[in-house]
Parts: sequence; C-alpha cells; structure tokens
Amino acid sequence: MSDGASNGDGIWIGPSVISADFLRLGEHLAEVEAAGADYLHYDVMDGRFVPNISIGLPVLEAAKRGTDLPLDVHLMIVEPERWVQEFRDAGADRITVHVEATPHIHRVVQAIAAAGAAAGVALNPGTPVSAIEEIVPYVQQILVMTVNPGFGGQSYIETSDAKIARVRELIDRVNPSCRLQVDGGVNEKTIARTVRAGADMIVAGTAVFNDRRTIAENVAVLRAQIAES
Ligand code: DX5
Ligand code: ZN
Repeated sequence: MSDGASNGDGIWIGPSVISADFLRLGEHLAEVEAAGADYLHYDVMDGRFVPNISIGLPVLEAAKRGTDLPLDVHLMIVEPERWVQEFRDAGADRITVHVEATPHIHRVVQAIAAAGAAAGVALNPGTPVSAIEEIVPYVQQILVMTVNPGFGGQSYIETSDAKIARVRELIDRVNPSCRLQVDGGVNEKTIARTVRAGADMIVAGTAVFNDRRTIAENVAVLRAQIAES
C-alpha cells in the first residue's frame, strides 16, 4: 500500500521506531502491529539539519522485513532530494521532508511521487504556516512538529494547538484528503488536544515504548483518549 494506512479512515496512530529497543526491534514491531497501530513512523536524522544522528537505510530495510504496516519516513536531513529514491527502495511507503531543508520543496515532492510513495511536508515549530501554502495541494500529509526535531521524549510545545488548527483550516480549504500529522510530545495527556485542533495522524514515541505499560496497553490508552476528545 503506497498511500494508505491499515485502520480505515479514523485517526491514525504511528509508533515512532526510534523509541523502540533496537536489540529487540523484531519483537517490538510485532507487538506494535498486534496492538493495532496504523503505521510506523521512522525518524532519520543527519547531525546537520538536527543536532542528532539516528537510523538510516539498513534499519529501514530490516523494519520492512519485520512488519506489514506502512512505513512513514520522516527525513530530518539537509538536501533530502539526494535520498528520496534510496529510502523508497529501502521500503518507505510515505516520505516527509522539511520545508526548511530545501529551496525546492515542489521538486522534492514531485520526486517522492515519481518514486511511488506518498509525499509529506514538515514544519518546524518556528516556521509559519504560510511556508506550506503553495505545496499543500500536492501532498498527502502535512507534519506539524510539536517539539523541535532531534530527540524523542521532549515536552509538547503549548502553542502548537493554534498552529494545528490553522493548518487544518488550510488543508480543508485546498486539499481535504491530505492528512494532518503531529509529532513530538504527544502522549496520553496531550493527544486529545491535538485531535480537537484537527490532527488525524499521530506520532507517538515514548508514549508507546516505555517501562510503565506494555505496547498494547499504551496504544489502547492513546485510543481511549482519542475517543474522549
Ligand atoms: C523528534 C522525532 C519524533 C520523536 C517523537 O525529532 O521526529 O518522531 O520520535 O518522540 P516522542 O513521541 O517521545 O516525543
Ligand atoms: Zn518524527
């Protein structure tokens, strides 16, 4: 499946692979799938666009073998245009690039589509919504960063709700089938407010992979909060 996720048209939940235990990645992916997650979020960091280095192509190839869930790749890298085909070949179903990372966002989005993946564009917390106005008609998802990208486990930025609502208004106006993804600090305490503001594609890292509960329990807690939102 190139542009869909597994659970129909509701709110999609995507656990973030970077918070998994890499020594037990296969087990964790199986647990995520059994828990009814809709997709997997996969963070790629290059130590230049963000102040951290994470995982790349070999782990994505392994993840592809370990799950049937759609793989949603979030490229936090400079010059993303150089890597679109490689990540597609390694198994990415959806590829998101940052609007701040390239002077040619339209060209990169075209390259993602030509490679056969769903295309997304991400916005850092300090980037205005106006930066994506021209590209929304061409993409399948807009990612609103609700922390500064680079690390899991950070706190949700309080002013994000208003920004999510502005992006929701833009999407509804020009491309209603486009998903609105939120990433960073989304947990049982903050998920409902993101959904009320208009998010329909959730990324959850430390809220899914932690020592407090099992993966299945954590996904169920997030779903319950969505139902109450
Ligand atoms: C942050 C990454 C996130 C991260 C989220 O730079 O883009 O996807 O994994 O982790 P949590 O949900 O713990 O904030
Ligand atoms: Zn991410």
